[in-house]
Amino acid sequence: MPDLETYLDDADLARSLRADVRTGLTATAKWLPPKWFYDARGSALFEEITRLPEYYPTRAERAVLQARAPEIARITAAKTLVELGSGSSEKTRLLLDALSADGALGTFIPLDVSAAALSEAVAALTAEYPGLTVRGIVGDFTRHLRLLPGGGTRLVAFLGGTIGNLLPAERHEFLTTLRAALDAGEWLLLGTDLVKDESVLLPAYDDAAGVTAEFNRNVLRVVNRELGAAFDVDTFDHVARWDPTNEWIEMRLAARTAMRVPIPELDLVVDFAAGEQVRTEVSAKFRREGLERELEGANFTLRHWWTDPDGLFAVSLSQA
Ligand code: AVJ
Repeated sequence: MPDLETYLDDADLARSLRADVRTGLTATAKWLPPKWFYDARGSALFEEITRLPEYYPTRAERAVLQARAPEIARITAAKTLVELGSGSSEKTRLLLDALSADGALGTFIPLDVSAAALSEAVAALTAEYPGLTVRGIVGDFTRHLRLLPGGGTRLVAFLGGTIGNLLPAERHEFLTTLRAALDAGEWLLLGTDLVKDESVLLPAYDDAAGVTAEFNRNVLRVVNRELGAAFDVDTFDHVARWDPTNEWIEMRLAARTAMRVPIPELDLVVDFAAGEQVRTEVSAKFRREGLERELEGANFTLRHWWTDPDGLFAVSLSQA
């Protein structure tokens, strides 16, 4: 087991889950934050989603990185690569290969909330890249950016379109905090899914095989296991909607019938009306102009914008 630096332990995680579930399920319009999808089962379901024919973002982003990694290495000449929400670090290898071929890279710092996913990735990467120092950090990218280690020019990669899971105000907070943690001249590599026709967007979040539906319902399994709740998981229907005003996808869970769900660890009983929905995820889609404005609002300058050949997904490189 590799050494990890821990900014977040199981007690912190348990505390924030309790706070989130209480806040979200006692709200008038019920909601739960998407970060709680990703236990072992949820992470495996997400990996399965990335291989679905309907879910284009992973393949499109990989195509961009495959084409542009050498350019990214040349432009940034990064000595340290930081990856936020690194998960399995599959796409990271494209960056690590290009940055090490260029010669400057000395350190890789993956940051993830899951100690299990992280220690696996750190062990594998340490073996695969013998010249590289790998420092895994267990942390939450919305809370622990201030603590990012320095050292040479850093390139911070935030891939997968995960920034779209933050609401606009949270995004602003995230980008300004990240900017404050960086020195002028350091880099942000951001993966963002793009606005496109609903006929392409919706199936990506409502696949024919029902994997996304299982992924969505998994948050209720997590609440059952961690907080002793009694959700009858299969009585909730998966709902995916495109919101054209906000330009985001919303996933929700709809109670098929009226029900009353005890959550013992919170001393709480939650009532659902028949058909009542819980919002479980927002996945914002971007346009270049809007994202450039958001980056500028956080004092980043957009330097490069690359998309896959079909224009589905963008990887942008911005400078602090
Ligand atoms: C990896 C968080 C970007 O929003 O598309 C996949 C998660 N949700 N299917 C996304 C997800 C439903 C995914 N992110």
